[in-house]
Amino acid sequence: MKNFVFHNPTKLIFGENTIKEIGKEIKNHGIKKILLHYGGGSIKKNGVYDVVINSLKENNIEWIEVSGVKPNPRLSKVYEGIKIAKENNVEGILAVGGGSVIDSSKAIAGGFYYDGDIWDAYSGKYNIEKALPLFTVLTLSATGSEMNGNSVITKEETKQKWATHSKALYPKVSIIDPTAQYTLPTKQTINGAVDAISHVMEYYFDGTPGTEIQSQIAEGIIRTVIKSTEILLNNPKDYDARSNLAWSATLALNGLLMAGSSGGDWSSHGLEHSVSALFDIAHGEGLAIIFPAWLEYVKNEDIDKFDRFAKEIFNIDTGNPSTDAKLGIEALKEWYKKIGQPISLKEIGATENDIDKLVENAVQRAPMGKLKKLGEKEIRDIYLIALNN
Ligand code: NZQ
Ligand code: ZN
Repeated sequence: MKNFVFHNPTKLIFGENTIKEIGKEIKNHGIKKILLHYGGGSIKKNGVYDVVINSLKENNIEWIEVSGVKPNPRLSKVYEGIKIAKENNVEGILAVGGGSVIDSSKAIAGGFYYDGDIWDAYSGKYNIEKALPLFTVLTLSATGSEMNGNSVITKEETKQKWATHSKALYPKVSIIDPTAQYTLPTKQTINGAVDAISHVMEYYFDGTPGTEIQSQIAEGIIRTVIKSTEILLNNPKDYDARSNLAWSATLALNGLLMAGSSGGDWSSHGLEHSVSALFDIAHGEGLAIIFPAWLEYVKNEDIDKFDRFAKEIFNIDTGNPSTDAKLGIEALKEWYKKIGQPISLKEIGATENDIDKLVENAVQRAPMGKLKKLGEKEIRDIYLIALNN
């Protein structure tokens, strides 16, 4: 196990009927005017918007709205948000939505205090040290953005979907009411489940020895996500399944699993971001395609861990670690197929002709990976596996 510092400053409020607390939480930070940021309108249909607005009114908090954040949030919307936030002298940001809305809010929060182009934080030219205080009401459990300092934004013109991280971007307070997720289309619930599993796997397979506690927590989270998702496929309003999936997704990327690790591998995420940047598919779909291909490509780097994964997650134990490793990856693909995810680039309409574009896009961030360093050749090999899966 590596040395580590674990410090997560986000206050998390979890449970039914908790969204109405948001106004009081904002007021407790001495904030009187906020930017309210949300997506395409799901919060208006399911009533979350009304609860938030009532809570703001009750606590005498003024707000100005910037809505229309798209999945795979765009830099242009961030610029709009920064401009309006500055013109109106807001003192904080309230994100109400999924990972896309929260990530866009983080970019605005950081951009508010930066005179340059906030894209600099994503291209590695600038570290966000100061940001507006951020509050979130989560409506889709997937990314963990409600309790981490990450933000992923797409620059439309160059089709670069890049990430930044800063301590300043952790939300001050996040509220998760699992009942707000009853209205999620099944597809979005599934995308969230795949994203959460993928975050766990990024740490689980980063090659750090001596991390038994992290491995046990990781396996517990993956098993819980699988179990909860299967319940939700039949009953989207099962409160306990929603709650377990939601808390699992938060725990998957709030720093808990990173403690003592080498920081996670993250090449599957890097390769996926190029897929969703070029094909504008959901992150969870892209991960169902890319992660199994990466697992296949790198399994011999740590065959014992792959053997353990097969045993612990899918009860596979033939006595031969190599066979188990292979069967474990197959079982993961089968589960993704069963819940309705694509597992091949072909299923999203990609062909051999798209591989060069994908490689060119992804290689901008190469070399990537911890378990195995990936350069251009390896990146191409993995995309080809994903194409032919
Ligand atoms: O826009 P609205 O109308 O709100 O609809 C959204 C959107 O269409 C809908 N939705 C959300 N909550 C709902 C709902 N529909 C009905 N009922 C509800 N309760 O779901 C759709 C997808 O939302 P989105 O926010 O895009 O999904 P997700 O939370 O999966 O976020 C994905 C984005 O986060 C990035 C991904 O790459 C992608 O851009 N990631 C962010 C990370 C982070 N900040 O730590 C890490 C991840 O690895 C990931 O890269
Ligand atoms: Zn992810």
